[in-house]
Amino acid sequence: MGKGVIYILFGVSGSGKTTIGKKLAKDFNIPFFDADDFHPESNIKKMSDGFPLNDSDREPWLQKLANEINDWNTKRGAVLACSALKQKYRETLKSIDKEYIKWILLDGSFDLIANRMEKRKNHFFKKEMLLSQFETLEKSEEGIIINIDKSSDEIVNEITSKLNTKKSQLGLVGLGVMGKSLAKNLLSKNFTLSVYNRQVDGYEVDIAKNFVKQQPDSHNVLGFDDLKSFVDSIERPRTIILMVNAGKPVDFVIDALIPFLSEDDCIVDGGNSHYKSTFERSNRLADKGFHFLGVGISGGEEGALKGPSIMPGGSKEAYDRSGDFLEAIAARDKANNPCCTYIGPEGSGHYVKMVHNGIEYAEMQLLAETYHILRFYGKKTPDQIAAIFNIWRNNGLDSYLLEITTDILLKKEGDDFLIDKILDKAGQKGTGGWSTNAALEVGMPLSTISESVMARNISGIKSKRVEASEIYQLKTSSISSDDTVFIENLEKAFRAASIINHHIGFELLKEASNEYKWKLNLSEIARIWTNGCIIRGDLMEQIWELFLSNNDTSLLLFSDIVTIMKPCVSSLSEIVSVGLKAGFSLPVLSAATNYFLAYTSAQTSANMIQAQRDYFGAHTYQRVDSSLDEYFHTNWKH
Ligand code: 6PG
Repeated sequence: MGKGVIYILFGVSGSGKTTIGKKLAKDFNIPFFDADDFHPESNIKKMSDGFPLNDSDREPWLQKLANEINDWNTKRGAVLACSALKQKYRETLKSIDKEYIKWILLDGSFDLIANRMEKRKNHFFKKEMLLSQFETLEKSEEGIIINIDKSSDEIVNEITSKLNTKKSQLGLVGLGVMGKSLAKNLLSKNFTLSVYNRQVDGYEVDIAKNFVKQQPDSHNVLGFDDLKSFVDSIERPRTIILMVNAGKPVDFVIDALIPFLSEDDCIVDGGNSHYKSTFERSNRLADKGFHFLGVGISGGEEGALKGPSIMPGGSKEAYDRSGDFLEAIAARDKANNPCCTYIGPEGSGHYVKMVHNGIEYAEMQLLAETYHILRFYGKKTPDQIAAIFNIWRNNGLDSYLLEITTDILLKKEGDDFLIDKILDKAGQKGTGGWSTNAALEVGMPLSTISESVMARNISGIKSKRVEASEIYQLKTSSISSDDTVFIENLEKAFRAASIINHHIGFELLKEASNEYKWKLNLSEIARIWTNGCIIRGDLMEQIWELFLSNNDTSLLLFSDIVTIMKPCVSSLSEIVSVGLKAGFSLPVLSAATNYFLAYTSAQTSANMIQAQRDYFGAHTYQRVDSSLDEYFHTNWKH
């Protein structure tokens, strides 16, 4: 159970502690207690005999209250009305961490209170007693002071606003690199925000509180390491964004949040979650009356901060309710519209993000192969390669990935290029592989993307590669560094392979849309990928325009693309054959070539596959000279 806050209303008798305390407790939906109900028998007797209590009488009473406060703190919290006139009485009550006690002094002039008490029906008012209370009262440095010269509702409103119990518009869980950047982005767009980060001793300490301190507009953000207070601080129906690692942590946080949520609250998962998990989570939460949006967010740390590309999937109702903020923080396309659009039903947002990452994997590998062959076959230095890439960027090939690759090539450490010092072992969190599995599930080719995943996998077996290279001692060959024809061919091959890779990604989206009945809008997806995300670039701008003219055509079949591809395809085959012959592994360039040659072949080798299947398994085959409804089997041995 979370830790509850104890609101202690203190001040002289007649200041309204009970009336205000009860109203406050009702508003906060926590119990109200009157300190007078906790006096020991001996004190009650003394008071009813007309004797005032002294400090030693008060000691066991205050101690008992301190124990109660400790107990309420472990539950939902409480409002306590207690005179607590002297500082030393208040010190005794501080049995818990001070951040969980909110001191509220109800302050008013002697005349005002005396007047009110005199007017109370059936109330026997002793002026001397009130005077002695005023003499005893020591005003406190801590907490808030509320002047009671107004109505009880006004007093309650002033207390809630002074206590900063104004609710935030949004909540965000997880202040890792992406979570922090997204939170700053939200604050820059004037959203009020509550942030939560778990507390792990010696590892994640006061992350949320420190984040709040570092914000220039810290009055717009509240920090918590206690989940209940965090949830309570958000306007209902709540929107809570999860920026935690994909996988088990998402379920862990959802399960921890559920007990504190109310009907119609919406959880927004902004991590790279698997689309099937998103689908399951949506159903699980819908059963409990909560909404769920699975949102792909691309653009890394900088994108999250300045404007990412955002791919939300879930019920339209959830998007209409909670999606506003996503559009506000997203990057803008060239017409200044948000790079965020409602993608489709549960799971579709994360599916689209997964395919984005698949395209990203293959583009990265394509650039890596292009750099590698320029470096070791073309004998260029990293800065010369950067210069070549900069020329390509001006030839309609500009992209975020080409830009950062150019920067990487120019980065030096002392006299050396940093790229030469980086171990050739690629990491991955899985989204490329997920795309491959997803393509297999709907029977689509994903050649460039799956090869880029395999390239990372083979890079991972470094020691085996070193051992094999020593055994085989294969030599690579190279050309003279002033071979301009090779560079021209490579540019064309790169252009063609990149188009093929994008075509493959969009074909998978189209097929998934049919299969899962998502009605994906390809031009909108291309549009939100024109800015903020990792695969933005000149080509994506063109793809957006093309799909806008026709959402159903395959990318490689648009006449504008055919015009670009035709002069490039022979260069693609040329580069792959020259590169392989010279001893270089070119998985994505090869995959792109093979895909393209197969895709543009009316006749492939699959007739032989069908014959083989029929031979050993009687799987039957269709014939070119017969109706496609008819299936044949041959007894191949006779
Ligand atoms: C993005 C990136 C981002 C992340 C990848 C990296 O669109 O902003 O794709 O999501 O960098 O998950 O994935 P790997 O670690 O698998 O390369």
